[in-house]
Amino acid sequence: MDNLTPKEIVAHLDKYVIGQRDAKKTIAVALRNRYRRMQLDIQVQRDIIPKNILMIGDTGVGKTEIARRLARMMSVPFIKIEASKYTQVGFVGRDVESMIRDLANVSMGLVKKEEEENNQEKIEAFVENKIIEQLLPPLPSGATDAKRADYDKSFTKMQEKLENGKLDHLIIKVDIKESSNFDDSGMPTHIIEVQESISKVLGGLNKSKTKEVTVKEAKTLLAQEAISELFDNDNIKEKAKKRVEEGGIIFLDEIDKIAIAKSSGSSQDPGKEGVQRDLLPIVEGSTVNTKLGMIKTDHILFIAAGAFHVSKPSDLIPELQGRFPLRVELDALDEEALYKILTQPQNSMVKQYQLLLGVEGVELIFKEEALKSIASYAFRANEKSEDIGARRLHTIMEKILEDISFNADEHSGETIYIDEELVVRQVGDIVKDEDATRYIL
Ligand SMILES: Nc1ncnc2c1ncn2[C@@H]1O[C@H](COP(=O)(O)OP(=O)(O)OP(=O)(O)O)[C@@H](O)[C@H]1O
Ligand SMILES: [Mg+2]
Repeated sequence: MDNLTPKEIVAHLDKYVIGQRDAKKTIAVALRNRYRRMQLDIQVQRDIIPKNILMIGDTGVGKTEIARRLARMMSVPFIKIEASKYTQVGFVGRDVESMIRDLANVSMGLVKKEEEENNQEKIEAFVENKIIEQLLPPLPSGATDAKRADYDKSFTKMQEKLENGKLDHLIIKVDIKESSNFDDSGMPTHIIEVQESISKVLGGLNKSKTKEVTVKEAKTLLAQEAISELFDNDNIKEKAKKRVEEGGIIFLDEIDKIAIAKSSGSSQDPGKEGVQRDLLPIVEGSTVNTKLGMIKTDHILFIAAGAFHVSKPSDLIPELQGRFPLRVELDALDEEALYKILTQPQNSMVKQYQLLLGVEGVELIFKEEALKSIASYAFRANEKSEDIGARRLHTIMEKILEDISFNADEHSGETIYIDEELVVRQVGDIVKDEDATRYIL
């Protein structure tokens, strides 16, 4: 998945996000550029820093959706965070450096999972051996060839039974190392370090515990054990670190919330500006201490997004603006786009409601004119009151299906048609009335 071409990335996003071609293209190119860079000489690589992206678009037009879809398809460490949740260093709250620590944790998880998947056979062999050791009396040293052959035969038989789950109910003893896995996401580094040295000391004592469990339970327990036995943790950490430094992506959502609108007339907000200042070195390239060691942030790609309704990109401090040279604007959604969002994406809204009511045994069928009319009402409602983009479709759909959804249990086994008449009846009057639209939709 790492070396998809820009066209392939866009094609993937197209399955879920309607329109917004510019944004998709820019992101796809930025991702491909990292792959291109990695193919170059190490000297040149160092000089090529990623160009960060600023996505500007009204609320509900797909900014977060693009990021979410990207995250699921890419096998690079990726996190999406709200810029507004950070506080300036020295204040109570999360400091911006913690985003790199979060990213490091994501990377670690990613690499571990890959190692597991790539070494499935090794892990299974380890588990099998450990269990069979318990069930078969060991072969004495200096056994004859005949005995050895016998042993091998029983071993194979045992193996078969084990795989078929025929031994699952037996009780065996297994030795499990006591691991000290703290959940340390978001904890300051110095505390993590203390914890790590404690667990090293404990680990040095190699404390293990004998447990009596069923073979079935042993399979899971030993699989965990296999991972720590077979894989070198330092090696995994090293890989994870490299992943973050070379492929990490941070999606910085709601960046407009930390900009200070000059037009609002409010005096400077030192907290927000502080966060922006704290962000500078991280976006520009600095080192942050994490569980994986010191991480260089130079090549981490930042994609910032915001609606910029109240503030403008120019309300960010100039230094920060300059670090997001690629600007893409997302289009407002017209009636046609709304219609497509309703019907086209994989797991589109229509499909979601059909599946939900399907659980109650109700088959929901939307007539074509009904869908057109929903899109049209959504568009008009967005025009009349605030433009909340595709989220308007949700409010309208809820309104239309309100009774059906509530009484679904009475309609089990039935097919319900959603036609234009129902749509008009449910939302027609509301959309005509501006005030009602504001409150109800
Ligand atoms: N272009 C689009 N294609 C498909 N679905 C969309 C699109 N735009 C919005 N949606 C749907 O609308 C909802 C809101 O979109 P999203 O979360 O991406 O908004 P946003 O642009 O991040 O807005 P905000 O600025 O409020 O965070 C999501 O459920 C998403 O599925
Ligand atoms: Mg969003």
